[in-house]
Amino acid sequence: MTEVTSDSERAAQLRDKVVDELLERGEIVSREVEAAMRKVERHKFAPEASLEDAYQTFNAVVTKRNERGNAVSSVSAPQIQAFMLEQAGVRPGMRVLEVGSGGLNAAYLAELVGDAGEVTTVDIDPEVTERAARLLAEASYPDVRVVLADATEGVAAHAPYDVIMVTVGAWDIPPAWVKQLTEDGRLVVPLRIRGLQRSVAFQREADRLVSTSVRICGFVPMQGPGAHDSQFLLVTGTDEIALRFDDGLPAEPSLLDNAVRGPRAETWTGVTVKRGEPIDMLQMYMATVMSGFCIMSVDKDLDTGIVAPWNKRFSMAAVDGPNFAYITPRLTEDEQFFEYGVHALGPDGADFAEVIAGHVRTWDREHRGGPGPRIAVYPAGTPDGRIPELPGGRVIDKDHCRVTLSWPSTATAAGDQDVQYHTAEQGE
Ligand SMILES: C[S@@+](CC[C@H](N)C(=O)[O-])C[C@H]1O[C@@H](n2cnc3c(N)ncnc32)[C@H](O)[C@@H]1O
Repeated sequence: MTEVTSDSERAAQLRDKVVDELLERGEIVSREVEAAMRKVERHKFAPEASLEDAYQTFNAVVTKRNERGNAVSSVSAPQIQAFMLEQAGVRPGMRVLEVGSGGLNAAYLAELVGDAGEVTTVDIDPEVTERAARLLAEASYPDVRVVLADATEGVAAHAPYDVIMVTVGAWDIPPAWVKQLTEDGRLVVPLRIRGLQRSVAFQREADRLVSTSVRICGFVPMQGPGAHDSQFLLVTGTDEIALRFDDGLPAEPSLLDNAVRGPRAETWTGVTVKRGEPIDMLQMYMATVMSGFCIMSVDKDLDTGIVAPWNKRFSMAAVDGPNFAYITPRLTEDEQFFEYGVHALGPDGADFAEVIAGHVRTWDREHRGGPGPRIAVYPAGTPDGRIPELPGGRVIDKDHCRVTLSWPSTATAAGDQDVQYHTAEQGE
């Protein structure tokens, strides 16, 4: 008995510490989210973890892995749950659909909608729904509806929803998620855009969605019909240098066969960022403006010769016919900043490097510190002429929708879209 009391006291202390930290960092901004996160006993939804592990501000608790050892289900990290709940703007009386059921986030949602609201959570995995239903009941949230289904169809039986909050990585936006929203409903979704995952809060406007907030995040990928694999181009025919494409390989990958033989063109942009400064926006900007955008990783244990990025796991890169280039930082002399540069390979490498360096400089001059990209989603098949963001923006075609990215310049941008954080410390 004594032990139980001290455990729950310890849990309450740890929970308050996490919430205080999230408030201080500005991840929690509303009293409602603060109250929900102070109240719901997070550790009861992660009984397999120690109290200390359950209350790590930036760490998820993995609850299921597949046969390859990859996480397929988890209780998300408090930091991500906090800012996504803020993005969702859930108010008392709302009807909410959560996609992906850990139990905990549904309990937060139940606190936020109150007695007059409704929470439905859906998961594709029967082990996950069984677990979530059990833990929700044990933690006194028996009214949360737990549904076993593939969420690409939404849950029509309880629609429309004021908020649909997706807690699994999605590449596409299935039509059901838009249709099952109320007319001005909100969709929060960890969306993969050209290989970059961002939690985007969208407002519905008739048949389109328009972003109000964009935050970096990391989620396990969607399973079932909504799953989408990236494609890899192995530049040397082995894993040594791999280029990951999210929306299809270049038309003629074999043109790159001789590129790594060199020579390497190199140019430096004069654009610097402080160590630890968010570079999330730079990534999104380059993903928008560079044709042939991809993510490069190189074998961390090998000397990959003239292909020598600072960050071996993740570098922004692009392919243009027989040329490929990547963006890489170097430390300034005082070691307080990174300067961004471009390494390029192929017959027109020097020109290609200059084009990319020009984009980095444009970001620095016109968009740095601004509100970030405006992301809009249109049904697949919408003609270019009906998309006001075009020309000027980039359109990315998915199976079910057309995602557009456009960048108001810092000088002209109104609005307060919230964009964060991938730091230069990571050198990406
Ligand atoms: C990160 S977990 C959800 C976290 C959770 N909401 C929480 O409370 O922290 C992601 C979940 O999405 C589920 N999932 C994956 N693909 C799905 C699909 N097509 N439909 C429904 N659920 C899916 C997985 O089974 C997994 O349980």
